[in-house]
Amino acid sequence: MKRKLTNIMVTGGAGFIGCNFIHFMFSNESGFNGKIINVDSLTYAGNLESLASIEDKFGNACMTQNRRYYFENVDICNRDSIEKILKKYEIDTIVHFAAESHVDRSILGPETFIKTNVMGTFNLLDCARNYWKNNDGSIRNDVLFHHISTDEVYGSLEETGYFTETTPYDPRSPYSSSKASSDHLAMAYFHTYNLPVTLSNCSNNYGPYQFPEKLLPLMIMNIREGKNLPVYGDGKNIRDWLYVEDHNRAVWLIMKDGKKGEKYNIGGENEWENIKLLHKLIEITCKEISLNINDVKQTIQFVKDRPGHDRRYAIDCSKIKKELGWKRKVTFEEGLEKTVKWYLSNEKWINNILSGEYSKWIENNYGDRK
Ligand code: NAD
Ligand code: DAU
Repeated sequence: MKRKLTNIMVTGGAGFIGCNFIHFMFSNESGFNGKIINVDSLTYAGNLESLASIEDKFGNACMTQNRRYYFENVDICNRDSIEKILKKYEIDTIVHFAAESHVDRSILGPETFIKTNVMGTFNLLDCARNYWKNNDGSIRNDVLFHHISTDEVYGSLEETGYFTETTPYDPRSPYSSSKASSDHLAMAYFHTYNLPVTLSNCSNNYGPYQFPEKLLPLMIMNIREGKNLPVYGDGKNIRDWLYVEDHNRAVWLIMKDGKKGEKYNIGGENEWENIKLLHKLIEITCKEISLNINDVKQTIQFVKDRPGHDRRYAIDCSKIKKELGWKRKVTFEEGLEKTVKWYLSNEKWINNILSGEYSKWIENNYGDRK
């Protein structure tokens, strides 16, 4: 039976990848013409300002019959509220981005990572299992739960080798352990209850709307402001970078054509040592705002390493390429330039984050609906 993919609950839609997913789904490219219900509890990382244009075009202002975008300010751990949303919007698809996502924060305070990433995922899976039950106790097969995960569940690589879908899990940080746990729960719900689940493990995303605690936006902002550029350890850790739109294109493809019970790796085939990536970023940023490259390079500061810092991630994404015909569209040069330009020309978005003003956005724009 074909998947409905009509009323889609996007969890974490106010975060970096989730908001880009919603923009992608409402673009002509996706071909999607259903509804999106964004469920997000607006933690420090959630920013509805990133979706202002979507809200204007498809949200509250539309006539009821034309409306295609809804926002629910709800914690994924709240069973009652999630059950209500599933019923209210007749949800047939869940794509689950919501998470605590920053490794450094997980080292400082792991508890919320366990709550949201483990308990929250469990809650969503269990609510979906109940809501999607047929009268005979079996589960509908026109529905889908797509779980978003990370390459960090596989651990750390030495100089050679790649993570494949069969690489054993070996998470090292509280963040990656909580994600690994959520992956196992998602797969357990497929095997035990036959819940239609697909799963994807992706490498480092970059692009617009990323919270400026992550490497690339943090460095772009620090360059702009003449601040030091903190590089952890020797700067030789390697990450595999993927433009966020290419990731979301892959996610939508899996949701449409991926086999239930299967997991897919998504990567950029684009490995960079942190320090080399920073040099490249400095070149592009300096060109954009006419700064002296050598002066800016002097602000690089090698700082104490992240505890348990994974050395290298590299994804083998041949499965999704071969089975679903996905390939990345945006070259790294293009993507990096687009990203730098975006942060430099969206000062208001950034300044609102720096000043904390962004958290008032919901008050200012949704206050009348309370
Ligand atoms: P993010 O931190 O930018 O956004 C997370 C969103 O989830 C925020 O809007 C936040 O408000 C929301 N949220 C957090 N806790 C919640 C809760 N209890 N209930 C409801 N909403 C809650 O994260 P991101 O970078 O967009 O990552 C999205 C997903 O992709 C995560 O599952 C992450 O593990 C995964 N992932 C991220 C990357 C990356 O490079 N950023 C790479 C691979 C996988
Ligand atoms: O691999 C996918 C993962 O990528 C996702 O699952 C995570 O949600 C996402 O946060 C990201 O994790 P990383 O730890 O790789 O991303 P981060 O931007 O924090 O760091 C990237 C690399 O840069 C990492 O090796 C640490 C280093 N770093 C980071 C910061 C913030 C620095 O050297 N200095 C910094 O200030």
